[in-house]
Amino acid sequence: MDAIVIKGGARLGGAVTISGAKNAALPLIASALLTVGKNTFKNVPDLRDVQTMANVLRGMGAEVSGKRVLRVDTSRINTLEAPYDLVRTMRASVLVLGPLVARYGRARVSLPGGCAIGARPIDQHLKGLEKMGAAFEIDRGYVEARCEKLRGAEITFDMVTVTGTMNVMMAAALAKGRSLIENAAREPEVEELARVLNKMGAQIHGAGTSVISVEGVDELYPVEHAIIADRIEAGTFMVAAAATGGDVLLEGCLPEHLGAALEKLREAGAGVEAAPGGIRVWGHGTLSPLEIVTQPHPGFPTDMQAQFMVLAALADGQSVIKETIFENRFMHVPELNRMNANISVDGRTALVRGPTEFSGTIVMASDLRASAALIIAGLLAKEGTTTRVRRVYHLDRGYERIERKLRKLGARIRRVKES
Ligand code: EPU
Repeated sequence: MDAIVIKGGARLGGAVTISGAKNAALPLIASALLTVGKNTFKNVPDLRDVQTMANVLRGMGAEVSGKRVLRVDTSRINTLEAPYDLVRTMRASVLVLGPLVARYGRARVSLPGGCAIGARPIDQHLKGLEKMGAAFEIDRGYVEARCEKLRGAEITFDMVTVTGTMNVMMAAALAKGRSLIENAAREPEVEELARVLNKMGAQIHGAGTSVISVEGVDELYPVEHAIIADRIEAGTFMVAAAATGGDVLLEGCLPEHLGAALEKLREAGAGVEAAPGGIRVWGHGTLSPLEIVTQPHPGFPTDMQAQFMVLAALADGQSVIKETIFENRFMHVPELNRMNANISVDGRTALVRGPTEFSGTIVMASDLRASAALIIAGLLAKEGTTTRVRRVYHLDRGYERIERKLRKLGARIRRVKES
């Protein structure tokens, strides 16, 4: 297994290119199941989760080849199943459910089971598809879905769910008649999926708002599409730049996807400006404490909570961070405390008392974004101390070559093999 080893005390400087968005790539690959033929996705990030989604489709008979340019040929789909061994390693595999039911009238998808950051059920996905006429049975840990032709329906989600909105939107694209999805997720990745479905021939309006209307069509056609930049990767590098007192140009990212995070960076005292082709972020002087509440988009993203906690720990004073999306997403706290932070958790609220002088040690990554937070803390650790982040398989699910990108910006970071 690999670990990431970081020597503290570096200031980041230079330019970094942001990769394609993981959470857009995954639904797009699943959406190829709505078509019959050769889809081409460009700017695909080279990540473990993308490989997992490719394997889910391969298991169904799709031909998937390439890395950054991914070709997904759905001409010979012969198995309508997503097996437990793949779904348990990546919950987003459940994104094949909507397309399979809509296109083939059947699906067998393993229930994902628990997850490190929360229970994360899929009841809303099922509720939406049921309203469109799908029938479900749970058999030995699998959801078995069946339907004749899906019909358009009015679906109001009980809570905002990103992949739930995506699953229902994909199914509605091939349903008979009109669907209205209310309390829909407004994430840029939902908009990106709608853009691609519309390129395939769907008729979707309102994606990016909380009400999406979908006029079902009989058939969808393969597409070629270049994926938007990863706003969470961008946010992670922004925090690293600001926290280290560095100056970094993030190339390719879209400021309009990063509103809440940019606002918090400015509040903390970092410099932020739109630059040709991206965003420039720099750190200067003392940082101010932050109050952060995670919310569905356009609120502050849960996927940046851990990274911003490291920034908050540097500030002189007390920051308050409230996690409202997932019930167990503070597992980085004990690890950050082992690096000398002073953070306490009461239910869904973390109190971060700064300023912290991080000190390097051995820490365990517990999930994808927690891994990124530990790496940033490692960059900040006092000169002469070393941080070893273990269990980096979490990191490899969602950050493309982060150690290479950080090294190019001046970090002293390397990947090592551990026995
Ligand atoms: N929820 C339910 N029932 C459902 C669906 C969701 O109770 O049927 C709950 C969840 O348990 C959670 C909340 O609703 O408490 C929101 O979950 P959501 O469904 O929005 O999360 P997701 O679609 O499973 C996506 C991202 C996550 C990101 C969340 C929130 C993908 C592939 N994953 O997950 O990304 O944290 O939205 O923004 O898009 C990551 O990239 O590190 C990551 C975890």
